[in-house]
Amino acid sequence: MNIVLRIKRYNPETDEAARFQDFTIAAEPADRLLDCLMLIKRTMDGTLSFRKSCAHGVCGSDAMTINGVERLACKTLVQDVAEEEGAVVTVEPLRSLPVQRDLMVDYTRFFEAYRVVKPFLFPVAKVEEGENIQAPEVRKKFDDPTKCILCASCQSACPVIVEGKDFLGPAAIVQAARFVFDSRDEGIAPRLDVLGAPNGAEACEGHFECTRVCPRGIKVTKNINLTKRAVKQFKEKDD
Ligand code: SF4
Ligand code: FES
Repeated sequence: MNIVLRIKRYNPETDEAARFQDFTIAAEPADRLLDCLMLIKRTMDGTLSFRKSCAHGVCGSDAMTINGVERLACKTLVQDVAEEEGAVVTVEPLRSLPVQRDLMVDYTRFFEAYRVVKPFLFPVAKVEEGENIQAPEVRKKFDDPTKCILCASCQSACPVIVEGKDFLGPAAIVQAARFVFDSRDEGIAPRLDVLGAPNGAEACEGHFECTRVCPRGIKVTKNINLTKRAVKQFKEKDD
């Protein structure tokens, strides 16, 4: 099936503004968008820039906007998209993150937000002997956020961030939730300054776009809401 990939191009060294360029590909049913981008780079235009690493939906580095929806290029069968949405498939970088070149974006601020939520364990107490045992049902409480691959799709799709409002972002709160709901961690206390700030969990307006696009199926909005509630309870207890 012949598919036109309409790719947003931008080279900061030569372009005043971004532009679209069309590439026609004879796609096989099993071809993923990533395969097509690599084919273009190898055989049509070696300057096409995009990130990828694992090619299997694990590293999160090839998130991009495909027909206006955030997806991983390595998990998107291009023929399926063309059959369902039309034979011209538009490929753009993630929204809200500064474009470095073509489909590559700058993750600096994204990872700054990740770091400030302190995504590591603050142990509740020293275990004198043996292991700090955790029951499966307690472990289950933070199963969902452990699946995050930091692809930034949720960040790109979040209307609060797209509108330029000050918000830490869904991915950072998902990362915090992974520890906040771990019974071995001190929870909200060491992260209150960040999660309880006006641009923390409270800044989420509940649009659910993050949940809709997450390639790992994480209930992002639910995790944010649970974190909001935990912050509120912690503050009430402290008053
Ligand atoms: S929560 Fe989902 S969409 Fe957001 S960074 Fe993690 S894996 Fe990507
Ligand atoms: S290349 Fe790693 S998730 Fe797609």
